[in-house]
Amino acid sequence: MRHQENKGHLHGALSSAELDEETWPDFERLFASNGGVWGGCWCMFFHKRGSFDSKAYDKNKDAKEALAREGRAHGTIVYCGDEPVGWCQFGPKEELARIDGKRGYTPTIPDPWRITCLFVAPGHRRSGVAKFAVQESVRYMKGLKAKVVEAYPVEGERSATLLWMGTPGLYEREGFIRVGPFGKHSWVYSLSLSGRRSSKTKARGPS
Ligand SMILES: CC(C)(COP(=O)(O)OP(=O)(O)OC[C@H]1O[C@@H](n2cnc3c(N)ncnc32)[C@H](O)[C@@H]1OP(=O)(O)O)[C@@H](O)C(=O)NCCC(=O)NCCS
Repeated sequence: MRHQENKGHLHGALSSAELDEETWPDFERLFASNGGVWGGCWCMFFHKRGSFDSKAYDKNKDAKEALAREGRAHGTIVYCGDEPVGWCQFGPKEELARIDGKRGYTPTIPDPWRITCLFVAPGHRRSGVAKFAVQESVRYMKGLKAKVVEAYPVEGERSATLLWMGTPGLYEREGFIRVGPFGKHSWVYSLSLSGRRSSKTKARGPS
């Protein structure tokens, strides 16, 4: 639901809402007007383990809608005026389990929440939408009583298409710290939302 309270969180012309049954049509609008994103992923990739067909447009869309209606697909929709223009997927570990099976990922705590995906409509890029999406996602996760959240940004200048996990700066700005490498080009970043840094989330250097 797009709460009135979002007026209190306006950021320029931007506002946000969490994905749920009521805001599903906005998520649908954003993704449908961008071909389901990645040809039909509908941001289902990280919900699944094992094989995944990012072009299975209808199947992925239906699965995402079912999860959203069941409250098992968290995320932040960003609006510019009334138009949904950005998306940040987050959720507890079990909701976004694919990360656990990824080569190069070393768990740092047992039950992190995660930010796994960002998407900004092409006409709205490079104007702070992703930055706002991350800020709002952190705020929503605090409200959901998440204790620690991980993010997995990619280092270096590259095509926007390959930056769905975001950049280090996006997370450092919110107080995340780098806790270890994730493959060759990515990092695990961590933020304690309880105000105390977990003893198990001390920074690790690259191996
Ligand atoms: C990556 C993406 C989310 C950035 O969104 P954005 O709204 O343009 O980002 P912002 O303007 O808020 O900038 C955030 C940061 O990203 C950086 N950035 C944005 N585009 C970049 C690019 N192409 N290369 C390197 N850095 C980039 C900005 O410089 C800024 O850096 P900082 O945090 O160090 O200051 C957007 O380009 C996108 O959606 N790409 C497609 C990703 C995708 O395919 N997702 C599908 C998965 S569902």
